[in-house]
Amino acid sequence: MLAVVPPPVTVRVPAKINLHLSVGDTRDDGFHELTTIFHALSLSDEVTIAATEEPGIEVHGEGAKSVPTGEDNLAWRAMKALASYAGKSEEDTRVRLVLRKGIPVAGGLAGGSADAAATLVGLSALWKLEISRDELARIAASIGSDVPFALYGGTALGTGRGEQLVPVLSRPVFHWVLAFDERGLSTPKVYGELDRLRADGDPPRVGSHAPVVEALASGDPRQLALLLGNDLQAAAVSLRPGLRRTLRAGVNAGALAGTVSGSGPTCAFLCEGAESALEVAAELAGAGVCRTVRVAHGPVPGAKVVGGEDAN
Ligand code: C5P
Repeated sequence: MLAVVPPPVTVRVPAKINLHLSVGDTRDDGFHELTTIFHALSLSDEVTIAATEEPGIEVHGEGAKSVPTGEDNLAWRAMKALASYAGKSEEDTRVRLVLRKGIPVAGGLAGGSADAAATLVGLSALWKLEISRDELARIAASIGSDVPFALYGGTALGTGRGEQLVPVLSRPVFHWVLAFDERGLSTPKVYGELDRLRADGDPPRVGSHAPVVEALASGDPRQLALLLGNDLQAAAVSLRPGLRRTLRAGVNAGALAGTVSGSGPTCAFLCEGAESALEVAAELAGAGVCRTVRVAHGPVPGAKVVGGEDAN
């Protein structure tokens, strides 16, 4: 009898920025204790998953050449983790993952984590697993700190290493301009640089996240702009001093405020509205301080099937 090959599944998954990122002590497992507010943006990757006789990973788009295509790719690790959870045999898990990158690699926007989350959602559909998002989030947390958030999207408070999430009420839409840098930054190196700066002195620390939660509920971008903050910014700027110029240029171009996203080097600029974001993007693009700029809005939903049988 011929085996029935399920049709491929395509999942769209958003990038994240951190509106607030407070880095605490280093834990026994080497990770830092975090309090962060994640915000999912309308900048996305698409992952297509197909059953195949030629398993592997294919990468296209933004920064594709620097994405690993072996077993250390987070999407591949997600496939392995879900296969083991579902008790799948080696033969059942012959899949091809096609990653279409819109999110820059090593940009502080959790693109690799997004691909892992998309793979969990897409494979659950391909294999017709009855598995809740909360159960998927537990598997996601074993792959990386930012993977659970990419499953849910929206705006959320993250604690622990960032994987413990509570949704945060956020008014309809905030408008952003993103400045992509020439090269990525390594997340462990940026955390290491923060440890070094803290051993040597007292780099600035963000305050409580509570006012940020209030500003999000109010929906007033001017209020939120005053509160954007990231403890990793000093470390990212120390490793990539040009970011100081980028941050200044965004505000000079008319943004309400700018922040380094996560471990950088992408800078995110909050704007008054959609029109202002377009103006800021045009001016920033001409300022010669970054590789490219994009406008985006948030919050948007997390990983979602957009193609294949389960799209509706
Ligand atoms: O969990 P993820 O793989 O995204 O983390 C990448 C690296 O970032 C970790 O290996 C660690 O060096 C650093 N990290 C950290 N504390 C966190 C999250 C990440 O030190 N809470």
